[in-house]
Amino acid sequence: MPTKPKQLTPNRPLPAACGGTTWLPVAARVLDVKQENFNTRTLRLELVDPVLRTRYRWQPGQFNMLWVPGVGEAAISISSDSEIPESLEHTIRTVGSVTRAVEQLEPGGVLGLRGPFGNPWPLDRIDGRDVVLVGGGIGLAPLRPVIYWLQRHRERCRRVVVLYGCRTPEDRLFAEELAAWEREGKFDVLVTVDNATAEWTGPVGVVTNLLRRVRVNAERALVMVCGPRILNRVAAWSFLQLHVPTDRVYISLERNMNCGFGRCGHCQYGSKFVCKDGPVFCFKDIADIFAREEI
Ligand SMILES: Cc1cc2nc3c(=O)[nH]c(=O)nc-3n(C[C@H](O)[C@H](O)[C@H](O)COP(=O)(O)OP(=O)(O)OC[C@H]3O[C@@H](n4cnc5c(N)ncnc54)[C@H](O)[C@@H]3O)c2cc1C
Ligand code: FES
Repeated sequence: MPTKPKQLTPNRPLPAACGGTTWLPVAARVLDVKQENFNTRTLRLELVDPVLRTRYRWQPGQFNMLWVPGVGEAAISISSDSEIPESLEHTIRTVGSVTRAVEQLEPGGVLGLRGPFGNPWPLDRIDGRDVVLVGGGIGLAPLRPVIYWLQRHRERCRRVVVLYGCRTPEDRLFAEELAAWEREGKFDVLVTVDNATAEWTGPVGVVTNLLRRVRVNAERALVMVCGPRILNRVAAWSFLQLHVPTDRVYISLERNMNCGFGRCGHCQYGSKFVCKDGPVFCFKDIADIFAREEI
C-alpha cells in the first residue's frame, strides 16, 4: 500500500545561491497534475511561502529534491519554463517508493522541496550554433526547459533539432507539445518509437538512427543528450564519429542522490559528484570515466 503523504507546513529554509533551499525542504503545493502516459505525470507546483516563491530562480537542466515525509526524497529535474520560475513543473515517472507516494498527490496536496541543484545546460554556448537535443524516455523532461528557452531566444542559434525516442507512441511525453513544436516550424522535430502501433506513421527504431535523417554539421553542432545510460553512450559515440568535438557534446547523467549538493558522496562518478559537477557534464570532462564504465 502506498504511504499517504503527511501534511506539511511552510518552514524557514536556509538561503541558497539561486534563491532556493539547500538542507531544509520547504513546502510546495500541487496546483495541477497532467497524466503524460501510463506511469508518468507532470506536477505543477508553487512554493507555499510567497517570499520564497518570488525569490526562487533556476536554470534549465537543474533539479530539485522532492520529499514525501515518512517516505523519502528523490531527485527530479525541473521540466518547465525557467523564465516563469514561480510555476515549477516536475515530470515524474513512478518507479519506486518516493515516486509512488508522489503519485498519490492531487491538486491541493503538499510535498517538500529542496533546490535547485546542479549545473545547467550550456545555453551560454548556443550563439551561431546548430543545437541538437537528443532525449530518450523520461530524458525529454530536463530538455523541455531548453526548448522553451530556445523558443524565446530562437534568433541566437542557427538550427534547432529535437530528436526524441520512446518505447511506443503511447509512451511519448509532452505529445501535444511535440506536435506543436513541429508545426510551428522553428525546430526540426523527429520522434521515433521502438514498437509502432497500427496508427503510427513515424520512424521506428532507436533515437540515434534519426541522425541519418538529419544532417548534423559537426563544425557548428552543440549537442545535449539525456536518456537511459545506453542511449547516452550510443549518442555520445555517434556524435564523436560524426566529428563533433568532445567539448561540444553535453550529457545529463543520473545517479542515486542523497544530499544533492556534494556533501554525502552518494552520487560519486569517478572523481566527480553528479549532483554538484553535473548532472549536465561536458563529454570532454568525463570521457575517461565514460570509457571505463560498465554498461
Ligand atoms: C539529476 C537527476 C534528475 C532526475 N530527474 C528525473 C525526472 O525528471 N523525472 C523522473 O521521473 N526521474 C528523475 N530522476 C530519477 C529519480 O531520481 C529516480 O528514479 C529515483 O530513484 C526515484 O525514487 P523512488 O524512491 O521512487 O525509487 P527508488 O526506490 O529509488 O527505486 C525503486 C526501483 O526502481 C529502480 N529505478 C530507480 N530509478 C530508476 C530509473 N530512473 N529507471 C528505471 N528504474 C529505476 C531502482 O533500481 C529500484 O529497483 C532523476 C535523477 C537524477 C539523479
Ligand atoms: S548527492 Fe550527496 S554528494 Fe551528490
